[in-house]
Amino acid sequence: MANCLLLVVMIKRCTDPLKPKSSLEEHSFLITDVRFSPSMPRLATSSFDKTVRVWDADNTDYSLRTFTGHSASVMSLDFHPNKEDIICSCDSDGEVRSWSINNGSCLTCVKVFKGGATQMRFQPRKGKYLAAASEKAIYILDGETQHACRSPLQGHAKDIQSVCWDSAGDYLASVSEDAVRIWSFTSGQDGEFVNELNCSGNKFQTCVFHPAHPSLLVIGCYESLELWDIREKNAMTFNNAHDGLIAALAASSATGKVASVSHDRLVKLWK
Ligand SMILES: *[C@@H]1O[C@H](CO)[C@@H](O)[C@H](O)[C@H]1NC(C)=O
Ligand SMILES: *[C@@H]1O[C@H](CO)[C@@H](O)[C@H](O)[C@H]1NC(C)=O
Repeated sequence: MANCLLLVVMIKRCTDPLKPKSSLEEHSFLITDVRFSPSMPRLATSSFDKTVRVWDADNTDYSLRTFTGHSASVMSLDFHPNKEDIICSCDSDGEVRSWSINNGSCLTCVKVFKGGATQMRFQPRKGKYLAAASEKAIYILDGETQHACRSPLQGHAKDIQSVCWDSAGDYLASVSEDAVRIWSFTSGQDGEFVNELNCSGNKFQTCVFHPAHPSLLVIGCYESLELWDIREKNAMTFNNAHDGLIAALAASSATGKVASVSHDRLVKLWK
């Protein structure tokens, strides 16, 4: 499903005469994040306009919900992996909120960090934890209350740009331009540092675990893709993957493919 959305974006940007099937009712400022619901035909977007919107993926003419309440730009959001009513969002002022999609109310509102949030992702399947990156640290929040469960994960020398979980919810990866770090949430662990990969070539930007090879982390860089097997601990660079910064990656477990989007305006699919 993620691939469909990326294709729609590509059609809109690259070939104007081919109009997308539907155009989303608009946010009034830049959109910062987009996520599909893991169980329902819904997607959600966050924006500099301080709102979160939830959309019916089968009919995107109107948003189902617009959540207002954040007093600053909403930087990221995520659906709860197994409570289909719940969505969480974080803003540039360090506030995290959870919302009920069914009745539209704000359920929790917690001031979590001093700086702004960069990206927030629920632990897949279990939903026990919510990982939120802010500046050089990752905050591990309780999936229900959004209160911090432990001290923040430290060690990055530069600001974190992206975080992602493996599909089992056992490992979390965090990316800054100079390093990727892996943290373990296997049974009995709540964020122990496992391993790091220092950048030796193009700056790192984003990452996703490969949908068909669970221990393989795909890292999007400036023009290249880095493949890092976190168990075997070997890394491989795929040069000239794009002609610009690889801004985001998405994995499809249904197709086993990874999609990359770049400032070169292309979407590419990889196996
Ligand atoms: C909305 O639903 C949530 C449960 O999902 C509940 O806790 C909350 O009280 C409800 N709020 C209102 C205003 O009905
Ligand atoms: C990565 O770089 C840091 C800082 O230079 C260094 O302390 C660390 O040992 C390096 N890690 C690896 C796995 O090379």
